[in-house]
Amino acid sequence: MSVTRLLADIEQLGRDRRSGGYYRPVFSAAELDLRSWFIAEAERRGLDVTTDRNGIIWAWWGEPQAGSVVTGSHLDSVPGGGAFDGPLGVAAALQAVDVLRERGVQPRRSLAVAVFPEEEGSRFGIACLGSRLLTGKLSADRARSLTDQDGNTLADVFAAGGLDPNHLGRDDEALGRIGRFVELHIEQGRGLIDLGRPIAVGSSILGHGRWRVSVQGQGNHAGTTAMSDRSDPVVAAAEMVGAVADLAEQIDDARATVGRFEPFPGGTNVIASEVSFWVDARHPHDETTRALVTRIEEACARIAAARGCTVAVTEESWSPTAHFDAGLTRELTELLPDAPVLRTGAGHDAGILAEFAPSAMLFTRNPSGISHSPEEYAEDADADHSAVALADVLEGMLR
Ligand code: GLV
Ligand code: MN
Ligand code: MN
Ligand code: MN
Repeated sequence: MSVTRLLADIEQLGRDRRSGGYYRPVFSAAELDLRSWFIAEAERRGLDVTTDRNGIIWAWWGEPQAGSVVTGSHLDSVPGGGAFDGPLGVAAALQAVDVLRERGVQPRRSLAVAVFPEEEGSRFGIACLGSRLLTGKLSADRARSLTDQDGNTLADVFAAGGLDPNHLGRDDEALGRIGRFVELHIEQGRGLIDLGRPIAVGSSILGHGRWRVSVQGQGNHAGTTAMSDRSDPVVAAAEMVGAVADLAEQIDDARATVGRFEPFPGGTNVIASEVSFWVDARHPHDETTRALVTRIEEACARIAAARGCTVAVTEESWSPTAHFDAGLTRELTELLPDAPVLRTGAGHDAGILAEFAPSAMLFTRNPSGISHSPEEYAEDADADHSAVALADVLEGMLR
């Protein structure tokens, strides 16, 4: 078996023909198929599979117990996502179990492969939703009330997926079982390409957050409303999007993105009454991210007033800069002496868990340097090499 061979079994699931990539929102038919695939593969390896009250799947080698070693990632995707963001870490974890078995390793503590739901936040808006629920960083009440783009509540969607929405929330027993957590992930930038190396150890995740901007104007007729009589929220929002990029470009190492922009009601001959768009902002220093968002809010207010509109900016989620455990990271670099240590601008469940248990990450080279896009890629040899590296790391922790 190889990691690529494992991933071949899921390559048709959730294919998005328009983008050429994938769309696997949490608890969609596609993501449920991926969850079933994972459960079958784990059971084929003799692992004991349970799904906890927050929808996290745990596949156990050994008894579930406090202080276990946990690895894994996620199976949901962004719209138009690549094949590796999430599934690579899950398939590599399964492959690592095979490698450990072939080596005859007798674990002295239990190992779990975990799959976290809604890591991308592409359905309900909050990234790392499963690990936030597990750790109590997201309250069950707030989670239950989140809605997707079709107006379905998370409570209803999770119930349809077989969970009891009344039992969502912080789970001290499950959390206490995570003695150490290692997530393997496709690299989402060019760090390893530039260094000519196949694998990196993660050091930290840039602080990042999501803000929803709602611009209200006056809906009206495209043909009968003179330009001077309009309060067009699309025009205001378009200027705001330009301001987001301009302001971020003024700050070294800042990133700000508007990737979702929705005029309502959305007719060619209709001046919209409302626009919602989302700002994703990131920087290595959390105060700088905050200062950037304040400047964005000020610019939005100014632009709205000049265009006869009103605007409201709401924070939907915030993740401070996460530093992986220094001791664990050192152990990984000792085991993988050729692996550079890199920070990442992408969020991961490991970043949420890092506050609660020693956590670390491994990154696999992505020859395109592109992610959240169908062009994301991993060479077969690099994927297998990283599964072996993960096995080495786990073996050290299981002794
Ligand atoms: C998730 O991949 C994120 O960093 O947005
Ligand atoms: Mn990911
Ligand atoms: Mn992602
Ligand atoms: Mn991510």
